[in-house]
Amino acid sequence: MQNRTLNQFNKNTSAMQVEEPVVKPMLPWVEKYRPNKIEDLAYQEEVVQSLQGVLKTGNLPHLLLHGPPGTGKTSTIIALAKQLFGPDFWRQRVLELNASDDRGINVVRNKVKKFAEQIVAKNPNPGFLCPSYKIIILDEADSMTNDAQSALRRIIEDYATTTRFCIICNYITKIIEPLVSRCVKYRFKSIPENEQIERLKFVADSESVTYNLDALKQLVVVSGGDLRKSVNMLQSSSTLYEKSINKKAINEISGFIPDEQIEDLVSVIQTKSIRSVQEECTRVIQQGYNIEQLILQFLDVVLATDTIKEKQKAKMMEIAAYTEKCLIEGSAEDLQIFNLMAQCQRIINEN
Ligand SMILES: Nc1ncnc2c1ncn2[C@@H]1O[C@H](COP(=O)(O)OP(=O)(O)O)[C@@H](O)[C@H]1O
Ligand SMILES: [Mg+2]
Repeated sequence: MQNRTLNQFNKNTSAMQVEEPVVKPMLPWVEKYRPNKIEDLAYQEEVVQSLQGVLKTGNLPHLLLHGPPGTGKTSTIIALAKQLFGPDFWRQRVLELNASDDRGINVVRNKVKKFAEQIVAKNPNPGFLCPSYKIIILDEADSMTNDAQSALRRIIEDYATTTRFCIICNYITKIIEPLVSRCVKYRFKSIPENEQIERLKFVADSESVTYNLDALKQLVVVSGGDLRKSVNMLQSSSTLYEKSINKKAINEISGFIPDEQIEDLVSVIQTKSIRSVQEECTRVIQQGYNIEQLILQFLDVVLATDTIKEKQKAKMMEIAAYTEKCLIEGSAEDLQIFNLMAQCQRIINEN
């Protein structure tokens, strides 16, 4: 009622004034469908089982979570924090720093240390264990410098009674050994296709998106098994295609090159005509595809082609790797793609 009066007032004060639509902020689906409890996590049973113990006792060691992107590492520690401290209170007890934050040595010495020093009260939130420590999450720690990691090592030791650390990374080899040895390590497994599809179905159904199985399968393929990528892509494609998606829509939005196009390239290198190779390359280049994506998909199809011998495949991989290096160094795309295809043709015709 009050709103209406206000709107009427606005209309009366200026004939030109346009009523602002009330826009509800749209939460990214990756956040909306982030598991709230560790037991909601798909396919990481060993991790979940082991962390259930923490929820019973409140004894949390320093953690190191590692594994491929989009497998639930960040979700795990956030869910654990929510379950330990309560859904409203956990933010006060958690400092989360990821790759978009500056985490150079100065930040580690100042911000992290300052937060680590604070002493917190036990059990201020009834109904939750709320143990008397805070958690510092260093997400995507692969990108932290060795100096910053070294500075952290001392802080971890000095403040262990008030603060627990959770280091998250894709590659454990990027973390310095003294940090690794101070943590309990959990490896996150790649999530198999069927589990990913189940998760995508759940999100799509909850958002009333119409889809077919092919579309979901393609989402898994183009996102390389990264659930964050596939959920994000599901959201953008369903926004763009008005809540109805199919394989073609997914290809369009992801820049994935149609299978037929790649298959044409693979058949042309199996002929003896360099002219045909050149014509096919020109056709592909005119389509404006992303060349690196093209090479990756080309190699996938080559690997799956039985008529090409193993030894030939190995040689082709080597040349493709060199091509990628040249492209990174700024070499002309059309020349590189033509060179790669011509050499692949030569390899096939040699033996
Ligand atoms: N194991 C999983 N179970 C359920 N959802 C997952 C899982 N892994 C990833 N997701 C989905 O992908 C998104 C990103 O996951 P996240 O935990 O940030 O991945 P990571 O930190 O391993 O890169 C989450 O919001 C969730 O929707
Ligand atoms: Mg993460």
